[in-house]
Amino acid sequence: MPKLNSDIAGELRPEDYGRLVETLNRYGRAYYVNDAPLVPDAEYDRLYRQLELLEAAYPELIVPISPTQRVGGAPLAAFTPVEHRFPLLSIGDIFNAQELHDFNARMQESLDAGSIEYCAEPKLDGLAVSLIYEQGRLVRAATRGDGRVGEDVTQNVRTIKAIPLQLYGNYPQLLDVRGEIFMPRDGFAAWNERARENGGKVFANPRNAAAGSLRQLDPRITAQRPLTFNAYYIGFASADASLPDTQYQRLQYLKTLGLPVNPLVQVVSGVQGLTDYYTAMGQRRAALNYDIDGVVLKVNSITAQEQLGFTAKVPRWAVAYKFPPEEEITKLLAVEFQVGRTGAVTPVARLAPVYVGGVTVANATLHNEDEIARLGVMVGDYVVVRRAGDVIPQIAAVVAERRDGTQTPVVFPEVCPECGSAIERVADEAVARCTGGLICPAQLRQSILHFVSRDAMDIEGFGERIVEELVASGKVHCVADLYALTTHDLAALLLDPGNDSRKPRLLGMVTARKLMQNIEKSKRVPMSRFIYALGIREVGQATALTLAHHYRTMAELMQASAGELQALPDVGPTVSMHVVDFFQEPHNQDVISRLIAKPEELMFSAGIEVLSQAEDFAAAPKPLDGQTYVLTGTLSVPRHEVKTLLQSLGATVAGSVSKKTSAVVAGEAAGSKLTKAQELNVPILSEDELRALLQQHGVRI
Ligand code: IVH
Repeated sequence: MPKLNSDIAGELRPEDYGRLVETLNRYGRAYYVNDAPLVPDAEYDRLYRQLELLEAAYPELIVPISPTQRVGGAPLAAFTPVEHRFPLLSIGDIFNAQELHDFNARMQESLDAGSIEYCAEPKLDGLAVSLIYEQGRLVRAATRGDGRVGEDVTQNVRTIKAIPLQLYGNYPQLLDVRGEIFMPRDGFAAWNERARENGGKVFANPRNAAAGSLRQLDPRITAQRPLTFNAYYIGFASADASLPDTQYQRLQYLKTLGLPVNPLVQVVSGVQGLTDYYTAMGQRRAALNYDIDGVVLKVNSITAQEQLGFTAKVPRWAVAYKFPPEEEITKLLAVEFQVGRTGAVTPVARLAPVYVGGVTVANATLHNEDEIARLGVMVGDYVVVRRAGDVIPQIAAVVAERRDGTQTPVVFPEVCPECGSAIERVADEAVARCTGGLICPAQLRQSILHFVSRDAMDIEGFGERIVEELVASGKVHCVADLYALTTHDLAALLLDPGNDSRKPRLLGMVTARKLMQNIEKSKRVPMSRFIYALGIREVGQATALTLAHHYRTMAELMQASAGELQALPDVGPTVSMHVVDFFQEPHNQDVISRLIAKPEELMFSAGIEVLSQAEDFAAAPKPLDGQTYVLTGTLSVPRHEVKTLLQSLGATVAGSVSKKTSAVVAGEAAGSKLTKAQELNVPILSEDELRALLQQHGVRI
């Protein structure tokens, strides 16, 4: 017998086994079904390890419902077809208010009723499955297939932690539960990000990811995919079950058995109730952590459902009211290459304009060369454009069937399209970079735009056209040249008219004077903003703030060694290397001395006064002292930056929501933490509200 030599197994005895399995399954239910963890993840993990040790010592104890037994069995050669005892039906689709009205009128007429009660549910965009429980034990899981015959995916479904292996409470002898397996957006994004880095399988959307993951012959692969499940229908229950008489109550009953049900399910009445629900879900859609493609509206009363019955294909008592699509097909007209501030070359797709996700899309990022290779996209292809929420449009896939031989390969340039310098790709980085540095007009333009931007030197009025013209006319070769401009230089600028008119426009004296004033105003600047404005690679606002808090002057910062920098909070080896490299570069030293030296020292100095922030750091007021914030969802600023800014005001930033949380900041596609905050009545801040809060305390993001 293996020895239980670990500390945590110290007290374990075989008679504890059943209790341990039960406890872990109970914690699992609380987490997945009630969305209310009973213990921190670390405690769950500790008990799980105990269970593993106990099972290693006493393998004869192992029961199939142990949480360690989700992944078992050898890879299959093929999936076995299974005939569903009761077909997995589809539902009829409707797309507009008129069709909704017609549906409700049909129900009223058939049931001879006035206002009808409905159970309204999100239409989850995943895969339908049937789960068969015998004596509460999961014995089979099958995909929908053609509705009559599906595939046996039991081994894979057992690996999905949200699906109980053993029901709980008052379950019937036989239960056939229908529901949707899907991949949450955060899990999907994380999966794809990792896949892009290490050459794994990248999926076009969460639905494809869920389908691809469930159709793995090796359950160990499925086990690694972040799949989850919501139950939405009872296909069959043996006669010993005493089922409630409404769809809504049946869902609540399924919850008592340990099956997760979607929290947004609601009972509503009449066309107005249905419309309101549809509208509300449409508005919440972008912020959810999973894709929904509409709402499913079901007559709530089961008696009424039975009266209405089914057509050959679909139930008469339900419809799927679909949202406008988030994916559309359009033609890829061209691929252009944009050069950013750090020289990163980004391929941008120019598309035949298409209405998708509520806006007209004509451009989409293609990220990098690997992404182009992964998609196998060619110029002239028809492509699937996806725009979910406010996320920037993406090309999700190529419609290969629509190729007609006229397509041409996307050629990644070997030299910079702007300055002709070589483009270099660092071995394990996905980005290609122009090596031209500031001789590249594109990099120069971008670095100037960054320098003048609101969070940097905040010089208002220098938009893309003016900056482009300043660079093209040779008046500005580096950011320090901005401070040598005269009103006459500016007034004489001939601006490219863009699309609106034919003739170039003269900037003129009035605008020029205003710009000169704005330049003048920027000359007193807190050190953190000045550091940020320099555009050092990977030095965002939060890092700039850290640096400004620790160095009294730019001269001190410029002398700092990599080792010294790395000792600062949140500064790692890469950032410290970029900082040191930046300040060692003679051109950068020259620009900085031109910017900040006093006029009497250097004739062409800009005379910028960099205000030290180091002295006041320790003494600085900490207005958010004692408050705890939780960040969730995608914010437009990197999360670690927001975290540092909140911390600089004295706040604590925590990873999970509790009653003590002061507020939850919810970005795009916020998930369970947002739901938790709503349940606990914890205040929720949007990104804009967070911005306002920080601004009150003099911090800008
Ligand atoms: S009820 C007999 N409820 O939509 C009724 N289906 O077009 C069975 N779906 O294949 C389905 N969310 O995969 C139902 N809340 C929900 C749903 C839902 C998504 C899917 C399901 C089905 C398809 C019907």
